[in-house]
Amino acid sequence: MDPKLKKLNERIALAHQGGGQARIDKQHQKKKLTARERIDYLLDEGSFEEMGILVTHRTTDFGMEKEIYFGDGVVTGYGTVDGRLVYVYAQDFTVFGGALSETHAEKICKVMDLAMKVGAPVIGLNDSGGARIQEGVRSLGGYADIFYRNVQASGIIPQISAIMGPCAGGAVYSPAMTDFTIMVEQTSYMFVTGPNVVKTVTNEEVTAEELGGATTHAIKSGVAHRTSANDVVCLEDIKKLLGYLPQSNREKPVKLAYTLGDEVREMLEGIVPDSPNKPYDMHDVIEGIIDSDSFYEIHKDYAENMLCGFGRLAGRSIGIIANQPMFLAGVLGVKSSRKASRFVRFCDAFNIPMLVLVDVPGFLPGTDQEWDGIIVHGAKLLYAFSEATVPRVTVITRKAYGGAYDVMNSKHIGADFNYAWPTAEIAVMGAKGASEIIFRKEIGAADDPVQKLAEKEAEYAEKFANPFRAARRGFVDEVILPKNTRRKLIKAFSMLENKEVPLPKRKHGNIPL
Ligand code: COA
Repeated sequence: MDPKLKKLNERIALAHQGGGQARIDKQHQKKKLTARERIDYLLDEGSFEEMGILVTHRTTDFGMEKEIYFGDGVVTGYGTVDGRLVYVYAQDFTVFGGALSETHAEKICKVMDLAMKVGAPVIGLNDSGGARIQEGVRSLGGYADIFYRNVQASGIIPQISAIMGPCAGGAVYSPAMTDFTIMVEQTSYMFVTGPNVVKTVTNEEVTAEELGGATTHAIKSGVAHRTSANDVVCLEDIKKLLGYLPQSNREKPVKLAYTLGDEVREMLEGIVPDSPNKPYDMHDVIEGIIDSDSFYEIHKDYAENMLCGFGRLAGRSIGIIANQPMFLAGVLGVKSSRKASRFVRFCDAFNIPMLVLVDVPGFLPGTDQEWDGIIVHGAKLLYAFSEATVPRVTVITRKAYGGAYDVMNSKHIGADFNYAWPTAEIAVMGAKGASEIIFRKEIGAADDPVQKLAEKEAEYAEKFANPFRAARRGFVDEVILPKNTRRKLIKAFSMLENKEVPLPKRKHGNIPL
């Protein structure tokens, strides 16, 4: 063989071995795939084109010049998922524990730069022991180069992070700035400071899993948007997510071919119970409206009083934001407002029309909420909806009370089309609370105050616990039968397809963060 060709083949073979068979076996023992196996699984067969396979680190401290691995602990390049271009990087834990060196960071930045120029998503498969300790500040600089690009790319191309092993210290801030973070259960964790430092500083005893495992971040912190049982499920999940997204902010999401015929959905009748205090599952309403099995939920286990996710309506990708009466009666709280705001902003940045389903009794009362800044976080959601220029349609299924009525994509803050079901109650508050305040004197003076309150409550309910006052003012465009909701929405979103809103020139608004 030509010696030059031999040399090339040898180097490529070495790159494919990563940190060697023993370390690959160790990776498999931990039920983790290797970086290359992950990329193979993620991308369409044979579509991967690798970049920088011959890159090596430049460190000579601590005898590092003798420890050279081609590719330097990260596999980078591009390929396709379902025929659509994506850029990808996968950290290779078998090489210095996937730790990030200056050159490792340069490789990641290279694909990010290309992705921004071309306009296609970047998928980061993270599995790393953090900054390459032997490189010191050069490694830290590498992280900052990536963070900077995460921000430049934000709102331009979708950025998806999978956490498939350790992700600690400064490393967490790249996924945190991407649009979606999916964590693998049991084998991944994320924290700014690990259990040892926590123990030293606060004397708390906590395991890595408790502190920053997938379940913790899915339920408690909301850092993880989704969790997956293992690497394969995680990669499948990413592929599914990509199907709802456009390639960049220059495009609209792909509309799948869809044969109509199921626009009227009888199952939507009777979901809302007669009693306003009885809960029901808003998932049933969502399933009743969208194409079958198309709901892709984001933050399923976090702030469950608000539902966010993607769905399809006659093949068109939409973002769904809905109050969930099953949890805390669907109130707006600090966490649910933050959750929904970020989702709204993602949809708006990437031309994904929004459907908002409303059954909200107001904001969550309490010192915790006030001291945690419900004023600012509620304002965030109000701001996010108000600045969104994508098609926005609202359906009020039941309660739309108080300031929460305004916040939940009301007509007043720019929604394009607002429907209400006949069960809608659009008022400042519920009939009982309202009557206790405005008829207090009358009730107090009555021979039978309980009877009087019931009378007044019925009077108030008759006036306001319905959608008709709002419809008379045009705050609701139409009161519709639940079974016709899907049909109406398909038409409304189709009508809004070419909506355009010119934006005033400004650097950026000042959303309450
Ligand atoms: N820099 C350089 N090398 C690193 C590294 C880092 N940050 N983190 C791990 N490695 C190397 C280890 O030296 C080891 O090398 P070897 O295969 O030649 O023995 C290899 O990666 C695997 O690490 P190991 O500790 O054996 O794996 P583990 O699964 O038991 O533990 C970690 C994984 C991430 C918990 C552990 O390696 C760790 O704590 N790393 C340091 C984390 C850190 O403090 N990073 C810097 C701040 S962000």
